[in-house]
Parts: sequence; structure tokens; C-alpha cells
Amino acid sequence: MRIYEVKNYEELSRKAADMIAAQIILKPDCVLGLATGSTPVGAYRELIKKYENGELDFSQVSSVNLDEYKGLSGENDQSYRYFMNHNLFDHVNIDKTRTHVPNGLEPDADKACADYNTLIGSMGGIDLQLLGIGGNGHIGFNEPCEEFICDTHCVSLAQSTIEANARFFDSIDEVPKFAYTMGIRNIMSAKKVLLLASGKNKAQAVYDSCFRPVTPHVPASVLQLHPDTVIIADSDALSLAKEKGVF
Ligand code: PGA
Repeated sequence: MRIYEVKNYEELSRKAADMIAAQIILKPDCVLGLATGSTPVGAYRELIKKYENGELDFSQVSSVNLDEYKGLSGENDQSYRYFMNHNLFDHVNIDKTRTHVPNGLEPDADKACADYNTLIGSMGGIDLQLLGIGGNGHIGFNEPCEEFICDTHCVSLAQSTIEANARFFDSIDEVPKFAYTMGIRNIMSAKKVLLLASGKNKAQAVYDSCFRPVTPHVPASVLQLHPDTVIIADSDALSLAKEKGVF
């Protein structure tokens, strides 16, 4: 993995947008794997600027998102479909029929996950997968556990994740307890992975993922085995690695 240190969130967002833009310019009909959460919002904002300046054309781009809450419709403002529309898709010339998020309204988890795996396969693989990282090292909703789960699956969210996400809901009781998420093989099959980490609350996860042994207890650590992973992290997110003298 290559790790780029940046000063702050603004620089992280600009650099991430530059890399995503480069992917779109190199391959206009690329498949982007996209992520939600607060971290990529700045990068999406920068991509919108590039589109508005006439530097980027999304008309042939397709996308697959990492995950979606089970039970939320795309109209629910806490769903990840809503997030993607609101933070990116509504503001660029992407064809929304080519943008994909797991179907949160499919109650049959096996069907929802099998359908999404088939879809990812039918798109010919992901060219660039964008990732955030949870404070516990999760990627997508692949939470720390005893073994890596390969394909799209239904997860019971970790209590720490429910608590971290409660800030977006009126009360913690409204945070869905289950989600559909791409699995580790789906993510690892991407040709290129771009992981973004910002803030002190990610310092432990960045240290464990990049500088400690690969383990399903820190799902992002598996990226050490990916041939083309780039991490953009700000100084705060790298602070523990620096303190330990490994970066
Ligand atoms: P965040 O979430 O970007 O809101 O910190 C990242 C994640 O949980 O993957």
C-alpha cells in the first residue's frame, strides 16, 4: 500500500478528487465503487466543482456503492441512496440508471445480497473502489469478526458503529441494526483501492490496518494484500503511526 500524508481534510478531499478524476479521464466508462460517511463528502464536492468547470464528464461512468441500511428506502434521507444522490449524483451528469446501491427494501437478505453480487460481476469488476474507514477498522460494513466474509452479505452492525451513526438520526433507536454490504472479496477484486482517513479518531484504525498483522479483527488490514491500494490520510489520522515510529 502507498500512504500519502496530507495536512488536513481539505487537502485530503482535493487529492482524492484528483485521483478519482484521473480514473474517469483515463477510462470514461469506468466502474467506480463509491462510499458514504462523512469522509468522502469533501471529495465529492471537489468532483462536482470539476464537473461544473467542464473538466469532467460522468456520462459514461457506472457506480456501485459499498452498502445500504436494510429496511430504508432510497427516499429516506438517512439511506445511502439518498446520500449519494444528494452529495454527488444530483449535481453531475451521471446516468442514475447506472448507479447502484444494494436494495435496502428487499426483505429477503439472501436475495438482496445474491442480486448485488451478480450485478457487480455483470459490470465487469470495479476499476476504483473508494473507501472510508471505521474507528474500529471496518470497511463498508465489514465489521471486526472472526473471519473475512467474501461476498455481499447482511450484517448486524457493531454497537460502536450504531453509536457512531446515531449522529445522523433523531435518536439512537432509529439507527437500523442491519445492513447489506459488499464483502471483502468484492472490495479486494477492485483494480485499485483508495482509502481516505481523516482525524484523530481514525489513528488507531490506520495504525492497526497499515502497520500491524492482517486480521479480520481489523477488516481494513486486508488491504495490505491488495496490489494497488492508496491511502490518503491526514496528519491526525497518522498520528499514532508516527508516535510508534513506523511512519
Ligand atoms: P466516516 O465513516 O467517514 O463517517 O468517519 C467511515 C466509515 O465508517 O467507513
